[in-house]
Amino acid sequence: MYMSANNLPLNVASDKIKIHDQAGFAGMRVAGQAAAEVLDLLVGEAKEGVATEHLDNIAREYILDHGWIPACVGYRGYEKTLCTSINHVVCHGIPGDRVLRSGDIVNIDVTVIVDGWFGDTSRMYGIGEVPRKAQRLMDITWESLQRGLASVKPGGHLGDIGHAIQTYAEAQHCSVVRDFCGHGLGQVFHDAPNVVHYGKKNEGPELRPGMFFTIEPMINLGKWPTTILPDGWTAVTKDRSLSAQFEHSIGITETGIEIFTLSPKGLHTPHNPELKPFLGG
Ligand code: MF3
Ligand code: CO
Ligand code: CO
Repeated sequence: MYMSANNLPLNVASDKIKIHDQAGFAGMRVAGQAAAEVLDLLVGEAKEGVATEHLDNIAREYILDHGWIPACVGYRGYEKTLCTSINHVVCHGIPGDRVLRSGDIVNIDVTVIVDGWFGDTSRMYGIGEVPRKAQRLMDITWESLQRGLASVKPGGHLGDIGHAIQTYAEAQHCSVVRDFCGHGLGQVFHDAPNVVHYGKKNEGPELRPGMFFTIEPMINLGKWPTTILPDGWTAVTKDRSLSAQFEHSIGITETGIEIFTLSPKGLHTPHNPELKPFLGG
């Protein structure tokens, strides 16, 4: 989400972040699995020759058929179910008549509401023959999310996440987008805290069991600044370098984390099925 969209201070106090109970975990588990199911469905559909609007139609129909709600439809005037962000698009690409071509890398982001709970997740999909540098960026971005997830511990701090992601991504000579961040969620889409993907260890609010938020690093091959296209949504890298992103919705447990949006079919990394996920715990 856009850094200033919810007017939340960056360094929100720990006691301003909602603590959810077991019913919350149960609700998020169902919503997270619903969202991940949509991304699983799109693994076979995101291919050469397909327009992004077609993917949006498939996703919307699947969601409505299950009695779920596509959270993005009507959100701040957005009209689509998915965000489809291709190549140098950082996030919030609007599905339309753009046809996927061999060599494209596309992030598909979906948020589904089930029984009032929001499941928010995204993955990268490589189309046809993907150039080596684009494949490398997607692998680095995937690993950035895994390291972010692995850094979350009750008693730790929000800054640990950004630190884990930033130190890794920058060591790979990539940059971490600053203008968009992860966010608290639960029975609202975008809640406190803002989860920035850069930062320092031990900074920010203390992490406590029952907190729910997304981690959704956007990593660029070039520099981090972004700009918004005239449609008011599509965020692109200023230098037109390639950008990638993965997103999970998680909850903090007594011992670590639960990842609500793991792929039910094990299709965690459509861009590179060889990679193994961190499963939380
Ligand atoms: N799913 C995005 C996020 O991770 C939000 C998209 S809002 C939309 O926060 F309106 F652009 F769809
Ligand atoms: Co999100
Ligand atoms: Co999202």
